[in-house]
Formats: sequence, structure tokens, C-alpha cells
Amino acid sequence: MRHWKKILIPYEQAVEELKVKFKAIRNELREMSEYSPIEFVTGRVKKVSSIIEKAQKYGIAENEIEEKIEDIAGIRIMCQFVDDIYKVVELIEQRDGKDLKIEYVKDYIKNRKESGYRSYHMIIRYPIQTAFGHKEILAEIQIRTLAMNFWATIEHSINYKYKKNVPEPIKERLKKSAEAAHLLDKEMWTIRDEVINAQKFFEAKSNTVSSIVNNMQLLKSIGQEEKANKFREKFNKALGKGNIVELIELSDSIKLAVDRYKAFE
Ligand code: GTP
Ligand code: MG
Repeated sequence: MRHWKKILIPYEQAVEELKVKFKAIRNELREMSEYSPIEFVTGRVKKVSSIIEKAQKYGIAENEIEEKIEDIAGIRIMCQFVDDIYKVVELIEQRDGKDLKIEYVKDYIKNRKESGYRSYHMIIRYPIQTAFGHKEILAEIQIRTLAMNFWATIEHSINYKYKKNVPEPIKERLKKSAEAAHLLDKEMWTIRDEVINAQKFFEAKSNTVSSIVNNMQLLKSIGQEEKANKFREKFNKALGKGNIVELIELSDSIKLAVDRYKAFE
């Protein structure tokens, strides 16, 4: 009996770290009102029962598990559009040799699987610092669109139910729905710029509103209540009209006011 806990702890840490890192990219871009190719990130450590099952299936000895089972640590990065996937791939490639090492990739988007499965896979080697010292583990990163993820999740549960012996008619339906998911990605692609602009607009507006609210608070806290109230009136008007240009101008002038009063402190 192996000490599974001790084996899996580094993988849990790696999954947590990688999730934080990919979410950070997303948050950083959003805060700058830039478009993020990453929509959301999930991660999991493979269950002991699945590790044992996989080792048996491939005839992997216990002492080879960590080197031969590459998806004990799994990260999934979901994107809105297919080309976002390749942007995420580029972001990861830029880190190759820095905080991770790319072992190999599989592009199941350009070469979709017989089942209809599409996704971009990267197997990486990732260093972590444990209580017992430095360790390097393997992790699988799956990068896919929301449509690809929808299909893969459903297909996986069907496979699971039928233990891989999926009846032929259901297999055919799954292939058809894989095609539909592919079409959805293609359709979305055609209105991509429109969608991105709308999202950037939303993000810019919400960042501007935050900045105005924070600076009004700041003005009050440095004893400029009257000034703050004047800004609040203008703010309410601009917000009511939903005019982004007015909001940005207001945000700029309130920033100036804050800087001015700060200078007198
Ligand atoms: P395993 O499939 O993990 O035994 O190893 P492999 O070397 O064949 O790797 P592959 O890249 O084919 O698959 C790795 C992972 O991708 C799987 O564990 C699934 O999460 C996912 N995957 C691959 N093929 C399919 C598929 O046909 N349907 C679904 N839903 N997921 C798939
Ligand atoms: Mg496989």
C-alpha cells in the first residue's frame, strides 16, 4: 500500500498554484479593461481510484505512476473563441523554461479525435517546493472553448455510464452534436469583434465607475465633503444617461481634484 496522501499533496499544490496563475492573467487583463482570452479556469487532482484504474489499464507499475500518468494534476482553461485557445497556448509557451516546462502538446482541434473530441492539450513539467524539498511533477493542461467543454462534459458522462460501450445510435448522435458544437464556434467567430467590443465596453465602464466612487470617498475622507457632493451630483446624472464619455471625463476631473487636495496636505 502506497502512501497516497504523501504522493498527492504536491499535485494538489501544483493544481492550486496553476489555477492562481491562470486566473491572475485573466484578472490583470480585466482590470486594465483589456480582453482576456481566458474565460475561466478549473483544476482537479485525479482520484486515487482512477489513478489505480489507469495504471492497470496501461500496465504501469506502482513506482512508474508519477512519470507515466501525466494527468494526475489537471488544469482546464476555457475560452470564448477558438483563436483565444492559441493565444493562451502562446502565453504558456512564453513561460516555457521559466516557471514551467512544456513536455509536448496535442492539438485535437486541428486533428479532432474519432469521437468528435476537440481541445488543445499541453503536458507540462511543473516545479514545486514541498516540506520535503524541491519536486517536479507532470500536469495536463486542456485548453478549449465553452462549446468544446459543453460537448466533452456530456460525452464523458455518457461514456462513463456505458463504460465505453456506448450504443452505436448514441455514438452517432454524439458525433452530430460535436459537429453542432463546431458550428457554434464558427458562428460565434463571425461576431467575435462585436462581442469583444461589448465586453471591453462593459469592463471599461465598471472600472471607471469604481474609480469615481473610490475617489469621491477619498475626497470626503480628506475633508472635501462639499466637493465630493458636487461630483456625486454629476456622477448620478452621467450614470443615469449611461454615457461612458461623460463618465470618463468625470473620472479624470475627480482624479485631478484628489491630486490637487493631496498636494496641499
Ligand atoms: P488517456 O486518454 O488519459 O488515457 O491518455 P491519452 O494519452 O490517450 O491522452 P488523450 O490526450 O487522448 O486524453 C487525455 C484526456 O483528454 C482524457 O483524460 C480526457 O479528459 C480528454 N479526452 C480525450 N479524448 C476524449 C474524448 O473522446 N471525449 C472526452 N469527453 N474527453 C476526451
Ligand atoms: Mg485517450
